[in-house]
Amino acid sequence: MSNITMSEVEDDEIELLHWGILGFVGNLNYHMGKEDPNGPHHALVGVASSRSEDMAKELVDSFDVPDCTLTFRDYSELVHSSLIDVVFIATPHSHHFQNALLALEAGKHVVCQKSLTVNAAQAKKLFEIAQRKQLFLMEGWWLWWPQASRKTCQLLREGEIGEVNRIVANFGIRNNYCMFRSESGRLTSRELAGGALLERNLALHWILRALPGGASRPTQVTSTMKKYPKSGVDETTTVEMIFSTGVREIHAKASASLSTAAGSDGQLAYVIIEGSNGKIEIHGWETIPTELYVFKNRYSLSEPYRETLQEAEPLFIPEADEVARCIGEELLESPEMPWAESLLVMEIMDLVRKQNDLHYPPQIETSEPSISPLSKPLWGWLSSTGHQV
Ligand SMILES: NC(=O)c1ccc[n+]([C@@H]2O[C@H](COP(=O)([O-])OP(=O)(O)OC[C@H]3O[C@@H](n4cnc5c(N)ncnc54)[C@H](OP(=O)(O)O)[C@@H]3O)[C@@H](O)[C@H]2O)c1
Repeated sequence: MSNITMSEVEDDEIELLHWGILGFVGNLNYHMGKEDPNGPHHALVGVASSRSEDMAKELVDSFDVPDCTLTFRDYSELVHSSLIDVVFIATPHSHHFQNALLALEAGKHVVCQKSLTVNAAQAKKLFEIAQRKQLFLMEGWWLWWPQASRKTCQLLREGEIGEVNRIVANFGIRNNYCMFRSESGRLTSRELAGGALLERNLALHWILRALPGGASRPTQVTSTMKKYPKSGVDETTTVEMIFSTGVREIHAKASASLSTAAGSDGQLAYVIIEGSNGKIEIHGWETIPTELYVFKNRYSLSEPYRETLQEAEPLFIPEADEVARCIGEELLESPEMPWAESLLVMEIMDLVRKQNDLHYPPQIETSEPSISPLSKPLWGWLSSTGHQV
């Protein structure tokens, strides 16, 4: 750990939530310290790289994080630090389960980037441990916090488009990832649990959110996958589902792609929710829905709702504030991203992968602790980068 004392990151005046990050999502760190001055406060206490402390320092230097940000020798040292309250996991999907397990076992609250785990068994195990140890755990998706997704749920609750009967969620990627990137990259590597379905699992979250009464189990799931020939992960996946309210059916279609954008104009995502009285359309890119339209009755355009968030704005902060609120209220899960919803998404993805014969290596499908040191990468990473531990 670098030679900086906690007095440099403490603030006696305000209640701070102390964050530690495993891996790196550049703009996450950028957002720290730009929160609402009247809201809960967050301190990025430290960062760890699985490769070396020097690599963590290099990462810290390359991003605009506070000078007092600590670097740790490895993941294990970070999660065991008494200076950290919450561990944010920003590693490839393949590593989420082992990294989250490490942090929970060390007694830390956890926010783990989507996809929460590789499969439902792993997610279930993490929830059991969080419950047993009375720790907060949440699948991180900062998309949920901007106004557009909240607004959508509010409009649906208020019956603005009547009874929902069809939901389409289409999530793609700009610049054909499969054509321009190496197959060993995070999104296309089997060893890193790549593939469109896990990467764009938000399409399933949107559908479950739009159902009346919230997430419920589909009565029917059919799916197709186009595999990426170089690694065998799914390049494009389409999932069709039927849900039942007891009196009527709701049809839903989610599609996720690593090779095409969702819309012809380069949009990465769109969601269409059709009801008996109109429809809602959400356009934008995968982390920020930028526009929300409500079409009433005969599909004449009513007041459009337009989301104005920009990339540089502190997207992460509303999510971090929600984590602070939940921890302050001693909640183990956020009502905004409940465990049941994350688990159901994982279960649907398990089924879809089974239907299409997509399996990841046993080392990353296991729901047992890894026999390799948990703070280290499972394999391959050190040799591929040349960094020393
Ligand atoms: N909007 C969002 O919510 C959002 C946006 C982007 C990404 N994500 C999620 O954040 C996570 C990380 O995505 P990313 O694009 O930031 O990934 P990335 O840049 O490829 O990797 C992030 C970190 O994971 C570790 N890592 C990378 N490759 C590895 C390998 N082969 N073996 C072991 N460790 C490896 C590295 O940390 P070390 O230095 O510690 O090894 C790296 O800094 C994913 O779960 C992704 O879905 C979410």
